[in-house]
Amino acid sequence: MPDHDWTGGALQTFVSHLECSLTGERYPADQLHGLSRAGRPLLVRYDLDGIRRALPRAALASRPQTLWRYREMLPVRRPENVVALGEVVTPLVSLPRIASRLAKGGELLVKDEGRLPTGSFKARGLVLAVSMAKELGISHMAMPTNGNAGAAMAAYCARAGIKATVFCPDDTPAVNVREIAMQGAAVYLVDGLIDDCGKLVAEGEKTVGWFNCSTLREPYRIEGKKTMGIELAEQLGWEVPDVIFYPTGGGTGLIGMWKAFAELEAIGFIGSKRPQMVAVQAAGCAPMVRAFENGSEHAPRWEDAHTVASGIRVPRAIGDFLILRAVRESKGFAIAVTDEKISSALNEVAREEGLLLCPEGAATYAAYKQSLDDGRITKTDRVMLFNCATGLKYPLAKVDRTLDRHKPIDYAKL
Ligand SMILES: Cc1ncc(COP(=O)(O)O)c(C=O)c1O
Repeated sequence: MPDHDWTGGALQTFVSHLECSLTGERYPADQLHGLSRAGRPLLVRYDLDGIRRALPRAALASRPQTLWRYREMLPVRRPENVVALGEVVTPLVSLPRIASRLAKGGELLVKDEGRLPTGSFKARGLVLAVSMAKELGISHMAMPTNGNAGAAMAAYCARAGIKATVFCPDDTPAVNVREIAMQGAAVYLVDGLIDDCGKLVAEGEKTVGWFNCSTLREPYRIEGKKTMGIELAEQLGWEVPDVIFYPTGGGTGLIGMWKAFAELEAIGFIGSKRPQMVAVQAAGCAPMVRAFENGSEHAPRWEDAHTVASGIRVPRAIGDFLILRAVRESKGFAIAVTDEKISSALNEVAREEGLLLCPEGAATYAAYKQSLDDGRITKTDRVMLFNCATGLKYPLAKVDRTLDRHKPIDYAKL
């Protein structure tokens, strides 16, 4: 689908205002915003009755298979501001062998987000953030990143003609750093973690005047991530799964899906059933798990954060209370898995099912197994794991078997 006809013609939008996620204070739509006056994320609110009237479920049938099919539930007002790169509906890939081995009677599905532009689910958030930046006249965006978000911002900024500056920890996967640079952004390697990079972005905001596009400081990335929840419900025939395992760093996707389910119920697309939301973290960086277990509303910084799953190496999240609230309201839980379990989970799914996960996606499978063993979920559950990026971005197994084609080959020994 060419991106200029994504609306299919006329565009009706339903944003009514923005709202502080902590105090409920209202802010006008169609203006530039960062955090609320209370220093908390702003959430976009819609005229849901208007959407209910304008969008019967059946209307979706004839729309293209991209996230723009849910345009009434998204904030972009003018079609010319959409900077699409082909945000396809991502498939639900079943893991039938593993399910029959571990969970007789249950169903194990992977939402494979690696198929999106820039190879990760960050495309969903950034296509909305950059489209809204274009709509609001922003000319320079900056962000801290563990890799994939920076790559997606660079790509969409290139497309929109917006200048992009990106800061990432100096051990960010090389492929991410290079794809950011290839897509025209200025990228800097910083001797610290993502929150240290975030401080540089905030400081530069005052002097350079770039727009701070950090997770949840910018109100529209969450609206893009929300489409994961809408999409999976539609793919399941407007049902939700019993459990969702989500690899949680900043938590935008988890918070976004939780918001999506509430909006879908309000417009009459789904009922009151909710999945148990499970926040999956790495044992070397598990601030949400610690806060969940302590019964706290906020999650203090995790010191000495380390894990092979760099996307979830987020020591402190500004939306901590929103993540914990969604997990608790859904009767879900937060769970940590070791790097060893992440690596063996990655190998297991690749060898047994032919699906190459990213380390963060593998963490969700490791958490699924651990939760089955602990009895926190049941074998008959319909479970959805999130594979957030293509496994091809990450270091793969080394191959050392060579053949000299000029010598006789003993095929029987191969
Ligand atoms: C592959 C991957 N998985 C998971 C995450 C965490 O996502 P979120 O910020 O929505 O918690 C990231 C973020 O960088 C990521 O790149």
